[in-house]
Amino acid sequence: MTMIVTGGAGFIGSNFVYYMLDRYPDDKIICVDCLTYAGNLSTLKKALKNPNFKFYKTDICDRKAVNEIFEKEKPDAVVNFAAESHVDRSIENPEIFLKTNILGTQVMMDACRKYGNIRYHQVSTDEVYGDLPLDRPDLFFTEETPIHTSSPYSSSKAGADLLVLAYHRTYGLPVTISRCSNNYGPYHFPEKLIPLMIANALVDKPLPVYGKGENVRDWLYVEDHCKAIDLIVRKGRIGEVYNVGGHNELANIDIVKLICKELDKPESLITYVADRKGHDMRYAIDPSKIHNELGWLPETKFQDGIKKTIQWYLDNKEWWQEIINGEYQNYYAKMYGQR
Ligand code: NAD
Ligand code: TYD
Repeated sequence: MTMIVTGGAGFIGSNFVYYMLDRYPDDKIICVDCLTYAGNLSTLKKALKNPNFKFYKTDICDRKAVNEIFEKEKPDAVVNFAAESHVDRSIENPEIFLKTNILGTQVMMDACRKYGNIRYHQVSTDEVYGDLPLDRPDLFFTEETPIHTSSPYSSSKAGADLLVLAYHRTYGLPVTISRCSNNYGPYHFPEKLIPLMIANALVDKPLPVYGKGENVRDWLYVEDHCKAIDLIVRKGRIGEVYNVGGHNELANIDIVKLICKELDKPESLITYVADRKGHDMRYAIDPSKIHNELGWLPETKFQDGIKKTIQWYLDNKEWWQEIINGEYQNYYAKMYGQR
Protein backbone atom coordinates (compact mmCIF):
# COMPACT_ATOMS: atom_id res chain seq x y z
CA MET A 1 0.00 0.00 0.00
CA THR A 2 1.09 3.58 -0.65
CA MET A 3 -0.24 5.97 2.00
CA ILE A 4 -0.08 9.76 2.09
CA VAL A 5 0.33 11.00 5.66
CA THR A 6 -0.15 14.74 6.03
CA GLY A 7 1.27 16.53 9.08
CA GLY A 8 3.82 13.74 9.52
CA ALA A 9 6.46 16.13 10.88
CA GLY A 10 4.26 16.98 13.87
CA PHE A 11 3.65 15.15 17.12
CA ILE A 12 1.09 12.43 16.34
CA GLY A 13 1.80 12.28 12.59
CA SER A 14 5.50 11.49 13.16
CA ASN A 15 4.66 8.80 15.70
CA PHE A 16 2.25 7.36 13.11
CA VAL A 17 4.94 7.44 10.38
CA TYR A 18 7.33 5.44 12.59
CA TYR A 19 4.58 3.05 13.65
CA MET A 20 3.59 2.32 10.04
CA LEU A 21 7.16 1.97 8.70
CA ASP A 22 7.90 -0.47 11.47
CA ARG A 23 4.68 -2.45 11.20
CA TYR A 24 4.39 -2.61 7.39
CA PRO A 25 7.94 -2.72 5.99
CA ASP A 26 6.65 -3.24 2.43
CA ASP A 27 4.30 -0.24 2.40
CA LYS A 28 5.27 3.22 1.19
CA ILE A 29 4.65 6.27 3.35
CA ILE A 30 4.53 9.65 1.63
CA CYS A 31 4.64 12.52 4.13
CA VAL A 32 3.17 15.88 3.12
CA ASP A 33 3.96 18.65 5.59
CA CYS A 34 4.70 22.36 5.09
CA LEU A 35 6.76 22.55 8.32
CA THR A 36 4.96 25.23 10.27
CA TYR A 37 6.39 26.17 13.68
CA ALA A 38 5.01 22.79 14.89
CA GLY A 39 6.63 20.68 12.17
CA ASN A 40 10.19 19.58 12.55
CA LEU A 41 12.23 17.73 9.96
CA SER A 42 14.70 16.53 12.60
CA THR A 43 11.81 14.49 14.01
CA LEU A 44 11.82 12.48 10.76
CA LYS A 45 15.60 12.02 10.61
CA LYS A 46 15.43 8.23 10.97
CA ALA A 47 12.47 7.88 8.61
CA LEU A 48 14.27 9.85 5.90
CA LYS A 49 16.85 7.07 5.72
CA ASN A 50 14.14 4.50 4.89
CA PRO A 51 13.75 3.97 1.11
CA ASN A 52 9.99 3.43 1.61
CA PHE A 53 9.59 6.92 3.05
CA LYS A 54 9.36 10.15 1.09
CA PHE A 55 8.90 13.72 2.30
CA TYR A 56 7.24 16.63 0.46
CA LYS A 57 7.47 20.09 2.00
CA THR A 58 4.02 21.11 0.80
CA ASP A 59 1.05 23.04 2.17
CA ILE A 60 -2.14 20.95 2.07
CA CYS A 61 -3.98 24.11 0.96
CA ASP A 62 -1.85 24.24 -2.22
CA ARG A 63 -4.14 22.41 -4.65
CA LYS A 64 -1.72 22.32 -7.56
CA ALA A 65 1.16 20.93 -5.50
CA VAL A 66 -1.11 18.40 -3.78
CA ASN A 67 -2.48 17.19 -7.12
CA GLU A 68 1.05 16.77 -8.46
CA ILE A 69 1.92 14.56 -5.48
CA PHE A 70 -1.16 12.40 -6.07
CA GLU A 71 -0.30 12.07 -9.79
CA LYS A 72 3.24 11.04 -9.01
CA GLU A 73 2.74 8.80 -5.99
CA LYS A 74 -0.63 7.21 -6.82
CA PRO A 75 -1.66 6.69 -3.17
CA ASP A 76 -4.12 4.00 -2.04
CA ALA A 77 -5.02 5.89 1.13
CA VAL A 78 -4.67 9.28 2.79
CA VAL A 79 -4.50 9.98 6.53
CA ASN A 80 -4.87 13.67 7.29
CA PHE A 81 -3.11 14.81 10.46
CA ALA A 82 -2.06 18.22 9.13
CA ALA A 83 -3.64 20.93 11.22
CA GLU A 84 -3.11 23.92 13.39
CA SER A 85 -3.58 22.18 16.72
CA HIS A 86 -3.08 24.53 19.66
CA VAL A 87 -6.20 25.99 21.33
CA ASP A 88 -4.32 28.97 22.82
CA ARG A 89 -2.96 29.98 19.40
CA SER A 90 -6.45 29.66 17.90
CA ILE A 91 -7.73 32.17 20.45
CA GLU A 92 -5.00 34.63 19.35
CA ASN A 93 -5.35 34.07 15.60
CA PRO A 94 -8.26 31.96 14.34
CA GLU A 95 -7.80 32.55 10.61
CA ILE A 96 -5.00 30.09 9.89
CA PHE A 97 -7.02 27.44 11.75
CA LEU A 98 -9.94 27.85 9.38
CA LYS A 99 -7.62 27.81 6.39
CA THR A 100 -5.54 24.75 7.16
CA ASN A 101 -8.06 22.72 9.12
CA ILE A 102 -11.08 23.23 6.86
CA LEU A 103 -9.85 24.33 3.43
CA GLY A 104 -6.80 22.05 3.62
CA THR A 105 -9.11 19.13 4.34
CA GLN A 106 -11.18 20.08 1.31
CA VAL A 107 -8.11 20.15 -0.97
CA MET A 108 -7.00 16.71 0.24
CA MET A 109 -10.47 15.23 -0.29
CA ASP A 110 -10.82 16.82 -3.73
CA ALA A 111 -7.55 15.16 -4.72
CA CYS A 112 -8.88 11.83 -3.40
CA ARG A 113 -11.95 12.24 -5.61
CA LYS A 114 -9.98 13.34 -8.65
CA TYR A 115 -7.47 10.49 -8.57
CA GLY A 116 -9.82 7.50 -8.17
CA ASN A 117 -12.02 7.78 -5.10
CA ILE A 118 -9.11 7.16 -2.75
CA ARG A 119 -9.66 6.00 0.83
CA TYR A 120 -9.54 9.03 3.14
CA HIS A 121 -9.16 9.16 6.92
CA GLN A 122 -9.62 12.36 8.91
CA VAL A 123 -7.81 12.65 12.24
CA SER A 124 -10.19 14.66 14.38
CA THR A 125 -10.53 15.36 18.08
CA ASP A 126 -12.89 14.85 21.02
CA GLU A 127 -12.89 18.65 21.36
CA VAL A 128 -15.61 18.82 18.68
CA TYR A 129 -18.06 17.65 21.38
CA GLY A 130 -17.35 20.65 23.61
CA ASP A 131 -16.97 19.82 27.29
CA LEU A 132 -18.65 17.92 30.12
CA PRO A 133 -19.33 19.19 33.65
CA LEU A 134 -17.03 18.13 36.48
CA ASP A 135 -19.95 17.05 38.68
CA ARG A 136 -21.29 14.46 36.21
CA PRO A 137 -18.64 11.73 36.08
CA ASP A 138 -21.29 9.42 34.59
CA LEU A 139 -21.29 11.40 31.30
CA PHE A 140 -19.00 10.53 28.36
CA PHE A 141 -18.69 11.58 24.72
CA THR A 142 -20.15 8.99 22.36
CA GLU A 143 -20.21 9.29 18.57
CA GLU A 144 -23.85 10.45 18.95
CA THR A 145 -22.97 13.36 21.27
CA PRO A 146 -23.91 16.62 19.48
CA ILE A 147 -21.11 18.76 18.07
CA HIS A 148 -20.84 21.74 20.43
CA THR A 149 -17.52 23.50 20.11
CA SER A 150 -15.84 26.06 22.38
CA SER A 151 -12.68 27.36 20.68
CA PRO A 152 -11.78 28.46 17.16
CA TYR A 153 -9.58 25.32 17.04
CA SER A 154 -12.37 22.88 17.91
CA SER A 155 -14.79 24.74 15.63
CA SER A 156 -12.41 24.40 12.71
CA LYS A 157 -11.99 20.68 13.39
CA ALA A 158 -15.77 20.27 13.64
CA GLY A 159 -16.22 22.16 10.36
CA ALA A 160 -13.78 19.78 8.71
CA ASP A 161 -15.59 16.73 10.16
CA LEU A 162 -18.89 17.91 8.73
CA LEU A 163 -17.26 18.44 5.34
CA VAL A 164 -15.73 14.94 5.43
CA LEU A 165 -19.13 13.37 6.14
CA ALA A 166 -20.68 15.51 3.41
CA TYR A 167 -18.10 14.31 0.87
CA HIS A 168 -19.08 10.76 1.75
CA ARG A 169 -22.79 11.36 1.37
CA THR A 170 -22.62 13.65 -1.66
CA TYR A 171 -19.78 12.12 -3.68
CA GLY A 172 -19.46 8.66 -2.15
CA LEU A 173 -15.87 9.33 -1.02
CA PRO A 174 -14.77 6.38 1.19
CA VAL A 175 -14.06 8.23 4.42
CA THR A 176 -13.68 7.56 8.13
CA ILE A 177 -13.10 9.92 11.05
CA SER A 178 -11.40 9.29 14.39
CA ARG A 179 -12.02 11.58 17.37
CA CYS A 180 -9.34 11.02 19.95
CA SER A 181 -8.75 12.43 23.41
CA ASN A 182 -5.52 14.21 24.48
CA ASN A 183 -2.35 12.38 23.44
CA TYR A 184 1.04 12.39 25.16
CA GLY A 185 4.39 10.82 24.29
CA PRO A 186 7.60 11.48 22.31
CA TYR A 187 7.90 14.47 19.91
CA HIS A 188 5.08 16.40 21.64
CA PHE A 189 5.66 20.08 20.92
CA PRO A 190 6.64 21.88 24.15
CA GLU A 191 3.78 24.41 24.01
CA LYS A 192 1.32 21.71 25.16
CA LEU A 193 0.71 20.91 28.82
CA ILE A 194 2.84 17.81 29.47
CA PRO A 195 6.01 18.67 27.50
CA LEU A 196 5.85 22.32 28.60
CA MET A 197 5.76 21.30 32.26
CA ILE A 198 8.61 18.80 31.79
CA ALA A 199 10.78 21.36 29.94
CA ASN A 200 10.10 24.10 32.52
CA ALA A 201 10.54 21.85 35.55
CA LEU A 202 13.92 20.64 34.29
CA VAL A 203 15.27 24.21 34.42
CA ASP A 204 13.32 25.21 37.56
CA LYS A 205 11.08 27.64 35.67
CA PRO A 206 7.54 28.36 36.98
CA LEU A 207 4.89 25.82 35.94
CA PRO A 208 1.96 27.93 34.65
CA VAL A 209 -1.32 26.21 35.53
CA TYR A 210 -4.43 27.85 34.06
CA GLY A 211 -7.21 28.78 36.52
CA LYS A 212 -7.38 26.36 39.43
CA GLY A 213 -5.90 23.43 37.52
CA GLU A 214 -9.12 21.46 38.00
CA ASN A 215 -9.88 20.96 34.28
CA VAL A 216 -9.89 17.30 33.34
CA ARG A 217 -8.40 15.72 30.22
CA ASP A 218 -8.57 12.06 29.14
CA TRP A 219 -4.94 11.14 28.31
CA LEU A 220 -3.90 8.46 25.80
CA TYR A 221 -0.37 7.33 24.95
CA VAL A 222 0.29 8.38 21.34
CA GLU A 223 1.14 4.88 20.10
CA ASP A 224 -2.30 3.65 21.16
CA HIS A 225 -3.82 6.40 19.01
CA CYS A 226 -1.63 5.32 16.05
CA LYS A 227 -2.83 1.72 16.43
CA ALA A 228 -6.44 2.87 16.47
CA ILE A 229 -6.01 4.88 13.25
CA ASP A 230 -4.30 1.96 11.51
CA LEU A 231 -7.20 -0.33 12.51
CA ILE A 232 -9.82 2.16 11.34
CA VAL A 233 -8.11 2.67 7.97
CA ARG A 234 -7.92 -1.08 7.34
CA LYS A 235 -11.09 -2.37 8.99
CA GLY A 236 -13.33 0.55 9.90
CA ARG A 237 -16.77 0.92 8.35
CA ILE A 238 -16.84 3.54 5.60
CA GLY A 239 -18.71 6.74 6.49
CA GLU A 240 -18.31 6.13 10.22
CA VAL A 241 -16.90 8.12 13.13
CA TYR A 242 -14.88 6.32 15.83
CA ASN A 243 -14.11 7.81 19.24
CA VAL A 244 -10.68 6.88 20.62
CA GLY A 245 -9.79 7.13 24.32
CA GLY A 246 -8.67 4.99 27.21
CA HIS A 247 -10.76 6.12 30.23
CA ASN A 248 -7.81 7.88 31.77
CA GLU A 249 -9.12 11.14 33.21
CA LEU A 250 -6.81 13.38 35.18
CA ALA A 251 -7.05 16.95 36.46
CA ASN A 252 -4.29 19.21 35.10
CA ILE A 253 -2.96 19.97 38.57
CA ASP A 254 -2.52 16.27 39.30
CA ILE A 255 -0.50 15.81 36.13
CA VAL A 256 1.74 18.76 36.98
CA LYS A 257 2.27 17.45 40.52
CA LEU A 258 3.11 14.02 39.12
CA ILE A 259 5.70 15.55 36.78
CA CYS A 260 7.26 17.41 39.75
CA LYS A 261 7.42 14.14 41.68
CA GLU A 262 8.96 12.15 38.81
CA LEU A 263 11.60 14.84 38.24
CA ASP A 264 12.19 15.37 41.95
CA LYS A 265 11.24 19.05 41.68
CA PRO A 266 9.35 21.08 44.35
CA GLU A 267 5.64 21.79 43.89
CA SER A 268 6.47 25.39 44.77
CA LEU A 269 7.31 25.79 41.06
CA ILE A 270 3.57 25.57 40.33
CA THR A 271 2.18 29.03 39.51
CA TYR A 272 -1.52 29.59 38.97
CA VAL A 273 -2.07 31.98 36.04
CA ALA A 274 -5.07 33.57 34.32
CA ASP A 275 -7.44 30.99 32.89
CA ARG A 276 -7.80 30.23 29.17
CA LYS A 277 -10.80 31.99 27.58
CA GLY A 278 -13.72 29.57 27.11
CA HIS A 279 -11.67 26.84 28.85
CA ASP A 280 -13.30 23.41 28.43
CA MET A 281 -13.88 21.76 31.81
CA ARG A 282 -13.75 18.05 31.16
CA TYR A 283 -13.22 15.70 28.23
CA ALA A 284 -14.08 12.01 28.57
CA ILE A 285 -14.39 9.52 25.75
CA ASP A 286 -16.62 6.45 25.56
CA PRO A 287 -14.55 4.14 23.31
CA SER A 288 -17.13 1.27 23.21
CA LYS A 289 -17.66 1.49 19.45
CA ILE A 290 -14.03 1.04 18.40
CA HIS A 291 -13.62 -1.65 21.06
CA ASN A 292 -16.74 -3.61 20.07
CA GLU A 293 -16.35 -3.26 16.28
CA LEU A 294 -12.57 -3.36 15.83
CA GLY A 295 -11.29 -4.90 19.08
CA TRP A 296 -9.17 -1.84 19.92
CA LEU A 297 -8.01 -1.37 23.49
CA PRO A 298 -5.25 0.92 24.80
CA GLU A 299 -2.09 -0.97 25.74
CA THR A 300 0.00 1.59 27.64
CA LYS A 301 -1.12 2.44 31.16
CA PHE A 302 -0.69 6.09 32.16
CA GLN A 303 1.75 5.25 34.99
CA ASP A 304 4.05 3.59 32.44
CA GLY A 305 3.42 6.01 29.57
CA ILE A 306 4.22 9.12 31.58
CA LYS A 307 7.48 7.58 32.86
CA LYS A 308 8.46 6.62 29.29
CA THR A 309 7.57 10.12 28.09
CA ILE A 310 9.59 11.89 30.80
CA GLN A 311 12.53 9.60 30.06
CA TRP A 312 12.22 10.43 26.35
CA TYR A 313 12.45 14.17 27.11
CA LEU A 314 15.49 13.52 29.30
CA ASP A 315 17.15 11.45 26.56
CA ASN A 316 16.27 13.87 23.74
CA LYS A 317 17.08 17.28 25.19
CA GLU A 318 18.62 18.39 21.91
CA TRP A 319 15.30 17.92 20.10
CA TRP A 320 13.25 20.16 22.39
CA GLN A 321 15.98 22.58 23.40
CA GLU A 322 16.47 23.51 19.76
CA ILE A 323 12.75 24.32 19.60
CA ILE A 324 12.57 26.36 22.77
CA ASN A 325 15.67 28.33 21.88
CA GLY A 326 14.11 29.65 18.67
CA GLU A 327 10.89 31.51 17.84
CA TYR A 328 9.25 29.73 20.79
CA GLN A 329 10.78 32.33 23.13
CA ASN A 330 8.66 35.09 21.56
CA TYR A 331 5.60 32.86 21.79
CA TYR A 332 6.32 32.14 25.45
CA ALA A 333 6.84 35.79 26.33
CA LYS A 334 3.59 36.76 24.57
CA MET A 335 1.46 33.98 26.10
CA TYR A 336 2.87 33.88 29.61
CA GLY A 337 4.71 37.21 30.09
CA GLN A 338 1.76 39.22 31.40
CA ARG A 339 -0.46 36.34 32.45
P1 NAD B 1 1.06 19.24 15.69
O1 NAD B 1 0.71 20.68 15.80
O2 NAD B 1 2.13 18.67 16.56
O3 NAD B 1 1.49 18.91 14.17
C1 NAD B 1 0.79 19.41 13.08
C2 NAD B 1 1.64 19.15 11.83
O4 NAD B 1 0.89 19.61 10.69
C3 NAD B 1 2.97 19.91 11.81
O5 NAD B 1 4.01 19.07 11.36
C4 NAD B 1 2.73 21.05 10.83
O6 NAD B 1 3.91 21.47 10.15
C5 NAD B 1 1.74 20.40 9.88
N1 NAD B 1 0.91 21.39 9.18
C6 NAD B 1 0.21 22.42 9.72
N2 NAD B 1 -0.40 23.11 8.75
C7 NAD B 1 -0.11 22.52 7.59
C8 NAD B 1 -0.45 22.77 6.24
N3 NAD B 1 -1.23 23.81 5.90
N4 NAD B 1 0.02 21.94 5.29
C9 NAD B 1 0.84 20.90 5.61
N5 NAD B 1 1.20 20.62 6.86
C10 NAD B 1 0.74 21.42 7.85
O7 NAD B 1 -0.32 18.47 15.88
P2 NAD B 1 -0.62 17.04 16.56
O8 NAD B 1 -0.79 17.25 18.01
O9 NAD B 1 0.33 16.05 16.06
O10 NAD B 1 -2.06 16.75 15.96
C11 NAD B 1 -2.21 16.07 14.72
C12 NAD B 1 -3.68 15.90 14.42
O11 NAD B 1 -4.33 15.18 15.48
C13 NAD B 1 -4.42 17.23 14.31
O12 NAD B 1 -5.35 17.14 13.25
C14 NAD B 1 -5.15 17.36 15.65
O13 NAD B 1 -6.34 18.09 15.49
C15 NAD B 1 -5.43 15.92 15.98
N6 NAD B 1 -5.53 15.58 17.41
C16 NAD B 1 -4.52 15.95 18.28
C17 NAD B 1 -4.62 15.56 19.61
C18 NAD B 1 -3.50 15.88 20.60
O14 NAD B 1 -3.64 15.58 21.80
N7 NAD B 1 -2.39 16.46 20.19
C19 NAD B 1 -5.72 14.82 20.07
C20 NAD B 1 -6.71 14.47 19.14
C21 NAD B 1 -6.60 14.86 17.83
P1 TYD C 1 -3.21 21.49 26.01
O1 TYD C 1 -2.03 20.61 26.14
O2 TYD C 1 -3.06 22.82 25.35
O3 TYD C 1 -4.34 20.61 25.30
P2 TYD C 1 -5.94 20.93 25.06
O4 TYD C 1 -6.21 22.34 25.34
O5 TYD C 1 -6.11 20.59 23.63
O6 TYD C 1 -6.65 20.00 25.99
O7 TYD C 1 -3.81 21.75 27.45
C1 TYD C 1 -4.20 20.69 28.29
C2 TYD C 1 -4.80 21.30 29.55
O8 TYD C 1 -3.77 21.96 30.27
C3 TYD C 1 -5.86 22.35 29.26
O9 TYD C 1 -6.89 22.23 30.25
C4 TYD C 1 -5.12 23.66 29.43
C5 TYD C 1 -4.08 23.34 30.48
N1 TYD C 1 -2.80 24.11 30.39
C6 TYD C 1 -2.29 24.76 31.51
O10 TYD C 1 -2.87 24.74 32.60
N2 TYD C 1 -1.11 25.44 31.38
C7 TYD C 1 -0.43 25.50 30.20
O11 TYD C 1 0.64 26.18 30.14
C8 TYD C 1 -0.95 24.80 29.07
C9 TYD C 1 -0.24 24.83 27.74
C10 TYD C 1 -2.14 24.11 29.21
